[in-house]
Amino acid sequence: MPAEPPAVDSPPASTDEVHPGRPHVILSAAMSLDGHLDDNSPQRLLLSDAADFDRVDALRAASDAVMVGAETIRRDDPRLLVNDAGRREERLRRGMPEFPLKVTVTGTGALEAGARFFITGGEKVVYCADRAVAAQAERLRGAPRTEVVAAGELVDFPRILADLKGRGVERLMVEGGGSLHTRFLAEDLADEIQLAIAPFFVGDDRAPRFVREADFPQNAQRRMTLAETRAIGDLVFVRYLIKR
Ligand SMILES: NC(=O)c1ccc[n+]([C@@H]2O[C@H](COP(=O)([O-])OP(=O)(O)OC[C@H]3O[C@@H](n4cnc5c(N)ncnc54)[C@H](OP(=O)(O)O)[C@@H]3O)[C@@H](O)[C@H]2O)c1
Repeated sequence: MPAEPPAVDSPPASTDEVHPGRPHVILSAAMSLDGHLDDNSPQRLLLSDAADFDRVDALRAASDAVMVGAETIRRDDPRLLVNDAGRREERLRRGMPEFPLKVTVTGTGALEAGARFFITGGEKVVYCADRAVAAQAERLRGAPRTEVVAAGELVDFPRILADLKGRGVERLMVEGGGSLHTRFLAEDLADEIQLAIAPFFVGDDRAPRFVREADFPQNAQRRMTLAETRAIGDLVFVRYLIKR
């Protein structure tokens, strides 16, 4: 007998790996051909085109939480919202909050309440080194729907992931910058990488890179699995799954 066709409205089956103690973690970035996330100028470097920004919007909409490092908030002042109204409505229809939870991490506690990260969207969590929690909470007093959480003396990433899982986060999208990507990869806490590669060079060693120097377990002896490649305008989109 032929198999029943799937219901038109049914969401696509998730291919995410399920981990008992943490969410599925997707590292997402756009980079130049020489691996830079940005140049060294005060303005943010545009790597993506409109179609690629829309792809990022769709991935955000399909995530329970999005995370960036504190330096990205200070330098780029991103909103990290789902911009497409249809995607927000779809989230609500599925019983999800309109916007994914926004997450950041800081050691110094030097984040300011006026950043767009804090004044837009829904709930936010700031994971902060123990020594800076009180100062950070004071700085963020008045920031809407924002919680500052102690995350250990040196900021413990497995502890952060366990806490997010406890908040119902099954899929976490990490949007950079490079120090965050490096940490997730070096600690073997990432499940996939989604990269858009732009067809130009930055050519400046001082500019931020997708990753910094580290002892990566995803080395030549443990190659990743190519899951997808696709042209988006003049960019190449590539998706690698990380094997364990
Ligand atoms: N092209 C892209 O897709 C993309 C996406 C995002 C960002 N970017 C670019 O990336 C650059 C920023 O990258 P970045 O690597 O300099 O910074 P980042 O990863 O955004 O943030 C680094 C900051 O996060 C906190 N942090 C990270 N790891 C920590 C740990 N283990 N313990 C405690 N705190 C920790 C620290 O904050 P404190 O200093 O507050 O302690 C640290 O300074 C910007 O130029 C931005 O434009 C590009």
